[in-house]
Amino acid sequence: MAPALTAVRGRLVWFRDDPFLTDRASAFVHEEDGLLLCENGVIVAAGGYAALRDRLPEGTAPVHYPDHVITAGFVDTHTHYVQTAIVAAFGSQLIDWLNHHTYVEEQRFSDAEYARRTASVFCDELLRNGTTTALTFCAVYPQSVDALFEETSRRNMRMAAGKVLMDRNAPDLLLDTARTGYDDSRDLLERWHGKGRNLYAITPRFAPTSTPEQLEAAAALWHEFPGALMHTHVSENAGEISWVRSLFPERQGYLDVYDHYGLLGPRAVLAHGVHLTRIERDRCAEAGAAVAHCPTSNLFLGSGLFRIDDAKDPRRPLRVGLGTDIGAGTTFSLLATMNEAYKVAKLAGYPLDSVKAFYLATLGGAQAMGLDDRIGTLEPGHEADFVVLDPKATPLLAQRAARVADIEELLFVLAVLGDDRAVRATYVAGELAHDRDTAPTGS
Ligand code: GUN
Ligand code: ZN
Repeated sequence: MAPALTAVRGRLVWFRDDPFLTDRASAFVHEEDGLLLCENGVIVAAGGYAALRDRLPEGTAPVHYPDHVITAGFVDTHTHYVQTAIVAAFGSQLIDWLNHHTYVEEQRFSDAEYARRTASVFCDELLRNGTTTALTFCAVYPQSVDALFEETSRRNMRMAAGKVLMDRNAPDLLLDTARTGYDDSRDLLERWHGKGRNLYAITPRFAPTSTPEQLEAAAALWHEFPGALMHTHVSENAGEISWVRSLFPERQGYLDVYDHYGLLGPRAVLAHGVHLTRIERDRCAEAGAAVAHCPTSNLFLGSGLFRIDDAKDPRRPLRVGLGTDIGAGTTFSLLATMNEAYKVAKLAGYPLDSVKAFYLATLGGAQAMGLDDRIGTLEPGHEADFVVLDPKATPLLAQRAARVADIEELLFVLAVLGDDRAVRATYVAGELAHDRDTAPTGS
């Protein structure tokens, strides 16, 4: 249950719009000494402390985080909770990595108890890193989905997840069929979508592991429940793209496979998209589908460099969020992910500034998932998920933060030097869900 009233004071930062598309003054809000007021899990006011202090009920003092930056909870638009235990597996590229690490680990999720334990670790990690919403793959087994949603329900987190659909080109123990995949997904969707803060995502793994019949069935289900999300991978790795061409020779390319079967539209989130062509990006934008940019994963697996400047071309902007892509990604931290996104963009000659990076990790992610009316910002009326960042979390951060000229530089320093240590506290629906300084070690 969300507390009736939560009040926090600190340096507030949030977004009203996309800074890739509009001028900074209308997209980005900063209150040097701000007050955030939440009632029953919803933000009711955000602004200057001096202007809002009269709205505090008699005798109520806000929780004060002096010098800390308070922003919307981070949104991780692509991850795999079932790969939590195989992060940092040495040496392979995508297909080899799937065969040798991922598909082995995911078989363990037929065991509901193992799934429950991992779901708990996963949610702890999200909150320790300031992430309040994630869009995550589960394993093929329905019990792996139940385990996650039971955990997120207990914590009242806004989470989107789904059973992975795979009916070919993977070990037998991980395969469903077009029929059972549809039936199990429908059953899970009816059980969890809209229950509390949970949302269901229809989740075909990627084109190579689904037959045309399965892709058709996934689209039929989405058609029946258009409020659900659709979550898959696209154009991550050169070998994968050639494989898709050989499996679907009648299609114009990788994206066209999903398009043909009716799997593009608002609330479709396609992970990676590193090698999408200009025509494919145009089509994605036209359809309202979003891309999850996963820089740590793309670097770790050697997949390639995503061009954020092309994706956010103002003539035809794509919806883009950031994804950690655990376990091919190497961190749960969206701060560390911003750092890698900056470097990847820099290699393309495009210095991604801190305002844009924080936008991608908050409102941009919410827009990618079609949730910007509920999360991703501190605007009143939105759900009270937020993170408190400590610019003095480490000696290096502290000495660097002492020299910044303005909020943009402070955000840049937090993105480049910050990680879970910089997350002082995380609030979920107005309730303190992680407190770095009181959390037991290892939680
Ligand atoms: N493509 C298909 N499955 C996966 C996966 O589990 N991780 C990544 N990074 N790419 C994929
Ligand atoms: Zn992935």
